[in-house]
Amino acid sequence: MKILKLNAISPAADEIFKDCEYSDAVQDPDGILLRSFSMHDYPLGENLLAVARAGAGVNNIPVDRCTERGIVVFNTPGANANAVKELVLCELFLGGRKIVDGANWAQTLKGREDISKLVEKGKGKFVGQELAGKKLGVIGLGAIGAMVANAAIHLGMNVVGYDPFISVKSAWMIDRRVSFTAELAEIFRTCDFITVHVPLTPDTKGMFNKTTLAACKDGVVIVNNSRGDLVVSADMAEAVQSGKVSRYITDFPDDTLLGRENILCVPHLGASTPEAEDNCAYMAAGQLVDYLQNGNIANSVNYPAVAMPRSSVSRVCVHHKNIKEILSKILAIVSSQGINVANMQDQSKGEYAYLILDLDEAPSPASIDLIRSLPGVIRVRQL
Ligand code: MLT
Repeated sequence: MKILKLNAISPAADEIFKDCEYSDAVQDPDGILLRSFSMHDYPLGENLLAVARAGAGVNNIPVDRCTERGIVVFNTPGANANAVKELVLCELFLGGRKIVDGANWAQTLKGREDISKLVEKGKGKFVGQELAGKKLGVIGLGAIGAMVANAAIHLGMNVVGYDPFISVKSAWMIDRRVSFTAELAEIFRTCDFITVHVPLTPDTKGMFNKTTLAACKDGVVIVNNSRGDLVVSADMAEAVQSGKVSRYITDFPDDTLLGRENILCVPHLGASTPEAEDNCAYMAAGQLVDYLQNGNIANSVNYPAVAMPRSSVSRVCVHHKNIKEILSKILAIVSSQGINVANMQDQSKGEYAYLILDLDEAPSPASIDLIRSLPGVIRVRQL
């Protein structure tokens, strides 16, 4: 197996790839492992089977192009959640208290004789607010949002979550003291602090804009560690300038946001801890190898989760369109060869589907070609 890495990746992946050709110089790879490298203008080679993102967001990957070509895109939900949660908590504190401004000001006192007097005289400019008793809105209750919501409850905040797509797993994790709203507008209208944990999609792009910011409570603190484009920076800058938003803290600096009072830009440090980097690399590498070797899919953003233990002589994996009769046509080709299907799983995700067939004998190359030629079949692998 040939695995190309497009970013520096934690050595935690090395052990999993020990039998693979794995480097940043691999040609014609079967799999790609990356962090934030933008693949939008990157050629998708003929043999490329999968792309694994060591992280949660996949907006740097041309997911639709990959899906059409039968290239599975993996991410690692939850693997860096604790690191991001800790940064969000830090930013909530920084949003409430003028620690950064105060600490920067304290540095200007170096060399003065009367430092303690100056500190007591000057500190009034840096008074802040406590988190306890304040209302926090958490937009998006996936792995990170759920952890942030729970931690904020322990800080004494009143927490309200919004997530129309919440998974059963997240719902189970969430502290029963967290309340839920079905109206995003309620978060904007009622919260003192808002933190956002949703992927960047055409639906979420610019969700913080002139209109939604105007609907916010006066003096709201907004924290964004998800993606910069969730926020229209010019609108945010204006809202901060007017005092509507008392502070905006983001992990995604841009030219509009930098150099402004009450906007704190962190250089995309959410997942930058050795623990998170190890977890993400290990999880992404494990998913990639299991897919390349066994055809199993876990945590893909474009194909459904399908996994079976290997139990028979031959495994055939088919990426196909989710259209009627396609499954029966594939099975008819296999049974016309007199081959027993030992186990099978077929799952769909939107317009696309994925099938694993475990067979008691290996089908002939001609029958694999026949499956490949069926309308709606995108890719066929025999393992
Ligand atoms: C993520 O999407 O989880 C982060 O952007 C990961 C990273 O910092 O590489």
